[in-house]
Amino acid sequence: MLVLGIESSCDETGLALYDTGRGLLAHAVHSQVALHEVYGGVVPELASRDHIRRVVPLLRKVLTEAGTGLQEIGAIAYTAGPGLAGALLVGAGFAESLALALKVPALPVHHLEGHLLSPLLSADPPRFPFVALLVSGGHTQLMRVSGVGQYELLGETLDDAAGEAFDKTAKLLGLGYPGGPQLAQLAETGRPARYALPRPMLHSGDLSFSFSGLKTAVLTQVRRQEMTDAEKVDLCAEFQAAIVEVLAAKALVALKATRLTQLVVAGGVGANRALRAALDVGTQAAGARVFYPELELCTDNGAMIAFAGAQRLTFGSVVKQAGSFGVRPRWALEEV
Ligand code: KG4
Ligand code: ZN
Repeated sequence: MLVLGIESSCDETGLALYDTGRGLLAHAVHSQVALHEVYGGVVPELASRDHIRRVVPLLRKVLTEAGTGLQEIGAIAYTAGPGLAGALLVGAGFAESLALALKVPALPVHHLEGHLLSPLLSADPPRFPFVALLVSGGHTQLMRVSGVGQYELLGETLDDAAGEAFDKTAKLLGLGYPGGPQLAQLAETGRPARYALPRPMLHSGDLSFSFSGLKTAVLTQVRRQEMTDAEKVDLCAEFQAAIVEVLAAKALVALKATRLTQLVVAGGVGANRALRAALDVGTQAAGARVFYPELELCTDNGAMIAFAGAQRLTFGSVVKQAGSFGVRPRWALEEV
């Protein structure tokens, strides 16, 4: 069956066509980075307006790329939450209307479930059960994933998400928007040891995280004295080293605690090279394996939504009738 996936929870419009027999046929993403850049962050109203402009051209694009037509679509999956309410409503309204017109099921998908299952789209996918480290702009969680829809929260951040910490720290260092990837790029050329930032909750004995103090520690350093560009680069390196050390250490503790040997990393921060390097080394030493989604599927996209929707169809979860829907801007993954 051909499943159309629509993602519009934040500042990326993503559409994709996934076939349950043939795999991913096409996917296209429009990023709103340029639109929000001047404001230094996502402006929800502008995000919604832009999603509306992009969704039909992107649909045409994926249909052409896959060499198929609307009539071939068997189900439409869309991100129903969590995310920005207005942005979610664009995808949901469009998906539900199209599903009604085509007389096919509409599948509301949890955004994080999309991220969580995205490594299964790769050529060498993990098998259930596995531990998932979800690291995005809005979430930092460790989960035990036993199957589609079977998610047990092992630990999460008590305050800022890892991506949020990257973005906020980048902002206070005067880097552009979105800051995370830029900070990470600078960090690669810096020397971490020049500064000594804390490793929050590294030895807390549980699987909770806390990243807001790290951002404050950077702020304190920045306020102390005027910094040269070289010093800023070193501070970026130390900041990244601190986040990576905590994320990697807790992911390994989660593997040990669950006695599982597969770790799946998902969400935008999963694109971070230093994190990948630390997890590669750590899992190998622990006799475990780590799986990442394809780099282009790490950040928000329609492919992961189409795939999660297809899995839900395959595993027989209840499919509601098209036409009745609501979005859930706040929605815990364990509630799916
Ligand atoms: O999963 P995602 O695309 O959107 C959310 O659902 O939040 O993640 C976006 C987050 C942003 O905070 C961004 O700064 C961060 O992922 N990010 C990175 C990198 N690439 C994206 N953080 C660190 N290093 C990167 N290379
Ligand atoms: Zn995301």
